[in-house]
Amino acid sequence: MVRILPISDPGTLDAAIDVLRRGEPVAIPTETVYGLAADATDPTAIAAIYEAKGRPRFNPLISHVSDMEMARAHVMFSPLAARLAEAFWPGPLTLVLPLKEGGMIHPLATAGLNTAAVRMPEGFARDLIAGFGRPLAAPSANRSGRVSPTTAQHVADDLGDRIGLVLDGGRCRVGVESTILSVDGTRLRLLRPGGIPVELIEQAAGAVIERPGPQAEDDPVMAPGMLASHYAPDALLRLNATEARPGEAIIRFGGIALKGEDQAKAIMDLSPSGDLREAAANLFDLLKRADATGATGIAVASVPGHGLGEAINDRLARAAAPRS
Ligand code: TXA
Ligand code: MG
Repeated sequence: MVRILPISDPGTLDAAIDVLRRGEPVAIPTETVYGLAADATDPTAIAAIYEAKGRPRFNPLISHVSDMEMARAHVMFSPLAARLAEAFWPGPLTLVLPLKEGGMIHPLATAGLNTAAVRMPEGFARDLIAGFGRPLAAPSANRSGRVSPTTAQHVADDLGDRIGLVLDGGRCRVGVESTILSVDGTRLRLLRPGGIPVELIEQAAGAVIERPGPQAEDDPVMAPGMLASHYAPDALLRLNATEARPGEAIIRFGGIALKGEDQAKAIMDLSPSGDLREAAANLFDLLKRADATGATGIAVASVPGHGLGEAINDRLARAAAPRS
């Protein structure tokens, strides 16, 4: 049985550090989604993450740090990278930066690349890393290819028979994963839209961010989270729906009804008031709930593409992509 410990319990932080010191993964809340965390310097611990998730191959992981000193021990910051870290950390921005000589992030966490993805999370996750004293590698705490978890219960449902400890910090504030940005000197490339809108990063950088097109699967700079089919619910997803089909579950946006909704198996709304932040925070939970109704399909209304809408539409497109 998986143990679930609330982060508000006084003993939780130390209990988690004990498990991490043994080289075992722990599911932890972050402001984006729940992560499956383990010592980023320990190959056995990292291998345990891949095993629990059932990742088909060794995709690189994000290393999470508690402060700039820890980050600078492992990767190199160009002046622009340092400015972006200053502007957005702690928070949902991941920077892909060159590895530093003498750094301790294990090649299993970087998949042997000469860069590492690094992020400083908010709140409890950051306290845990500070207490542990080393970076934590953490992908989203779901079985490979499934919808990312935004509650401890989601994690327990998906990985409960494969891991020993889930820390419960309630619902994730942001609800979609971090924005991943490659920073090569002054060159900025978007590897994954996410919790910080690209427009905001461009403003802080005073520069335009390149958006690489679809890439070959073995391109080293590509984020494998960009593989087409991902976040897959069991039911088939239909995007930009304006009308409901019999037996479908409906996911609205902005309180706008779809035609023929009275036939629907269930009706939900990402944000009745049309707030993209609320929609991002609800996205994965509603996908799971719609799936759990046993509907033949899920019809999703269109969501605006600006701000957090870019990340929402990215995740919806993956969830709707043909399965291999
Ligand atoms: O919000 C998040 O980012 C969450 C929480 C737990 O922090 N984590 C997360 O991790 O979404 P994951 O493993 O699901 O996605 C990490 C992405 C992958 O698509 C991976 O390919 C990319 O980061 N990545 C990691 N290292 C990279 C590198 N050196 N170069 C390019 N992409 C990299
Ligand atoms: Mg993931």
